[in-house]
Amino acid sequence: MKILVINGPNINMLGIREPAIYGQATYADLCEQIRAYAVNRKIDVELYQSNHEGALVDAIQQAYNRVDGIVINPAAYTHTSIALLDALKAVGLPAVEVHISNVAEREDFRQVSYVREWCEKTIAGHGFAGYLEAMDYLVERAGG
Ligand code: DQA
Repeated sequence: MKILVINGPNINMLGIREPAIYGQATYADLCEQIRAYAVNRKIDVELYQSNHEGALVDAIQQAYNRVDGIVINPAAYTHTSIALLDALKAVGLPAVEVHISNVAEREDFRQVSYVREWCEKTIAGHGFAGYLEAMDYLVERAGG
C-alpha cells in the first residue's frame, strides 16, 4: 500500500505560523509522525509539500499508476483551486482531505472546498492526528 501525503502552501511554516490555530509543532515534526505511523502500519508513504499550485498539480499527476491513495491538505488552495480538484479527478485515486484546524468553525471564505467534491472523506480539526486517520481510512478501504 503506497500513500502520497500532499501539503499545500504555508504548511512548511507550521510551528511559526499562527501557533494558536496550528500548534507549536513543525512540518518536520508532522513528517516524522506520519513516517513513524506508516512504518507501524506497513504503509509505504511519500511526503510532498509545495507553496505552488502548479507544483501540487504535478505531484498529483505523477501519482497516477504509482500510488494507491492520496491524503491531501491543500491549505489555502482548498478554497480556491479547481485545478487541484481536476487533477484529483484526472488520476482517479481515492483521496482524503485533511485540515489541521477545524475549518467549519472559521471564516466564511474557508467554508468552500473544491477538492471535497472528489475526496471520499474530510477530516478537520484533529490536528496532526487527522493525517494518520486519513491513512487508516485508505488502508481499511483497500481491505487492510
Ligand atoms: C488549513 C486550513 C486552511 O483554511 C488554511 O488556509 C491553511 C491550513 C488547515 O490545515 O487547517 O493553510 O488547511
